[in-house]
Formats: sequence, structure tokens, C-alpha cells
Amino acid sequence: MANVVIIGAQWGDEGKGKVVDIYTAEADGVVRFQGGNNAGHTLVVGNEKTVLHLIPSGILHKGKRCVIGNGVVLDPKVFLVEIEGLKAKGYLQDDSQLMVDGAVHLIMPYHVAIDKAREGRSTDRKIGTTGRGIGPTYEDKVGRRGIRFADLLKPEAFRKRLKEVLPEKNFYLEKYLGQPPLNEDEIFNEYQGYAEKLRCYLGNASVELDAAIRAGKNLLFEGAQGSMLDIDHGTYPYVTSSSTVSAGACTGSGVGPTRIDQVIGITKAYVTRVGEGPFPTELLDEMGEQLRTTGAEFGATTGRPRRCGWLDIVALREAVRVNGLTGLALTKLDVLNDLETIRVCTAYRYGDQLLTNFPSDLDVLQQCTPVLEDVPGWQTTINEVTSFEELPQQAIDYVKRIEAWSGVPVVLVSVGPRRDETMLRSNPFA
Ligand code: IMP
Repeated sequence: MANVVIIGAQWGDEGKGKVVDIYTAEADGVVRFQGGNNAGHTLVVGNEKTVLHLIPSGILHKGKRCVIGNGVVLDPKVFLVEIEGLKAKGYLQDDSQLMVDGAVHLIMPYHVAIDKAREGRSTDRKIGTTGRGIGPTYEDKVGRRGIRFADLLKPEAFRKRLKEVLPEKNFYLEKYLGQPPLNEDEIFNEYQGYAEKLRCYLGNASVELDAAIRAGKNLLFEGAQGSMLDIDHGTYPYVTSSSTVSAGACTGSGVGPTRIDQVIGITKAYVTRVGEGPFPTELLDEMGEQLRTTGAEFGATTGRPRRCGWLDIVALREAVRVNGLTGLALTKLDVLNDLETIRVCTAYRYGDQLLTNFPSDLDVLQQCTPVLEDVPGWQTTINEVTSFEELPQQAIDYVKRIEAWSGVPVVLVSVGPRRDETMLRSNPFA
């Protein structure tokens, strides 16, 4: 029996959907614990591609329990579209496969309107958000003005909460952001329309997960976004608004830290980032373009082109430390197939100093330049390789150097989007 947390070790888009999908074979239940439909997890089963934004990737496996923990923020409209899409494809035929904790905060229309209007203003510092209302929803959660999933299912309580909060939102939207106000009845009617369809999913994540753990079940906690986008440990303020690090799995699901056995961090063989913010190894030249094209680096949620750069060991070591990583899953190794030389950042230069720890001061970080080491490439296709030992020696050496630099074993290597394009070196559930 083991409980495993899987998180992104970079700025998101590391290939979590696929890795979680693979490990789900070992798990009895899959839990989302933070974020919302800002995430986009792409899964390829056979030749069919499914993109999930909210529902745990485990939903593609019949009979696996999927739990949306209290730390998630949920847009009921998007959630329903995702449910209906899955049902149409033959998944989620039994509603009891999916559960939403009552304390999940709802993304309301004013959160989306505020997020979009703020990002559209030229005067504000742009974060490059996904425009899904994530930040404003977490602001209301912390500000004790949020409306939760359990409230949605009680029309009177929902009306009361909406009545309390909407005038303030409309004041802000109209007077500060210059946006049209929203109508209370329209929101009420729209959301109550969702309530009946979603009632069957209400549950208590902490109680259920505790029972599962006591019964000796394996749980997989599926992170969204990445460690460097964490509200506390990321490149603030260019971050998302939730705890994306492994500790978030506990606060976001009601499971105590002593129940977690393994923490796997997913890292691409290079780095990408979407949205604004510092990115020390970013490549603004043809090499960046090559990585973007070969790696199909366009956002699953917004379609935005991702910024691309060399693997950053300074940032990776930060992720190892803040998450307590016990293993790395290395993805998209095949994207480097054509390269004669691969470059890796092993330190930052800041003025006349050499930094090996990721600076927490954004002003320092923005002035850092990467110290790059050259590693020979393998210049051959590795997508068909099924065992680690059969990889070209240069690819094996690259993986081994990542292990040495990070101090963490690489437990999984992915060389393509399909399930079968994966090498499992050890099993975190074993
Ligand atoms: P928000 O989460 O929409 O508030 O966006 C805040 C920042 O996090 C922006 O830079 C987004 O591009 C980034 N972000 C949010 N979700 C993801 C994701 O799933 N992958 C990568 N970046 C993300």
C-alpha cells in the first residue's frame, strides 16, 4: 500500500496527464487537490486524445474513484461540459466514480469577469493568467467571501451568499474595472440549473480518503500546474493562486502528511513556461522555436505558444527541496532526438556571484543569466525504445546526469505521448 503525490517540478505542462494516467493503473483512487480549469491534462489512449481540465485523469480508467478535494476551485459550467464530454466518449458511465468535496470553492461569473478585465488593462502588471477566474476565486476563499460547492446545493443559502457578495463585486467591476455589472437573478438561475445535475457528486474527501487509506488502498494525488507556479514557493507574483507543491496535497484534500509515502516530480527534458514571469534558461532564438515545434508546445487550455528553454537544474533542485521529491518522471526526452548538443543550466550568474540556489527575490532572479554545460545528444529516434538500457548511451548519460545533479532517481522516462511510449524504471507504489 502506498500513497503517492505527483506534481509538476517546473512551470506546469510537464506531461502530468500522461504520467498520472500511467500510475493510475496502480491506484485505487485519484485525487485532485488544487487549481481548477486553468489546468489542461492531455491524455492519449490508443489514437484518441482527451484533454481534461478539472476531472482527475483517473476517470479514463473504469472503476477508479476520482476525488476533487477541497483545495480545488470549480467552475460548474466547465465541469458539466467535461462530464458530458466524457460520458459521450463512453467514460464515467457510473456517477459514483466521481466525487466533489463540499468545501470546494465555486468559480463564479464575476471571478471570470474580474480575471479577464484585470488582464486586459494596460495599467496593471500582467500575469498572463488563463482567464478562468482562478486568482479572484482563491482571493475570495482567503477573504472569507467565497461560495462553496455545498452552498450551491442549498438554494436559500446560495441566494443569501450571492446577495452578500455581488454588490461588492459589481462595484469593483463597474467603478474600478469599467465593466458591466452582473445580474443576481441571472447568476442564481444559471447556477441553480447546474446544482441539480451536480448534486450526485457531493461528498467528504477527507472522510472518504481516510477510510480508503485505512482499508489499505493506494491513492494517487494529482497535482496541477507546477512547483514554480506555487503561490508561496513560485516566482511570485508570476504564479497561480494555489499551493501546487506536494504539501498542497494534504491541505487540499484533508489527508495528513504522515499518510504520504512518495512524491514524484515531473520534469521535461527541457523547460517551458506560459504567461509572464522570469525564465532564466529561455531561448528566444531558433533553438527555442525548434523545441516549441518539435515538442508541440502550445497550451492545452488556452492554445498559447509556450516559451521554451534548456533544462534548469537550479530550478529543479528547488523543486526537489520544496516538494521533498523521492523520484523524478522525465518526459519528452524524444523532443531532443535531433540535437547534436544539449545544453543544461547548472548555476546562475548574478553579477560576479555564482548562484546554485534558486533566488527567492524576483529582482535578483530577473538579472540572473544561466551557466550552461554542454551534453552530447544522441541524434536518433528513441520513440520506439521500450527499455531504458536500450536507449542510446548519450540518452542514458543525460538521464544519469540529471539524477546526479538533482540527487533524485529518475523512475520514469517518457519518449512520446502514448501510454506505451514510456519506460518504468521503478514503481513508487511498490
Ligand atoms: P492562473 O492560474 O490562470 O491565475 O494563471 C497564473 C499563471 O499560471 C499564468 O502564468 C498561467 O499561464 C500559469 N498557469 C496556470 N495554469 C497553468 C497550467 O496548467 N500550465 C502552465 N501554466 C499555467
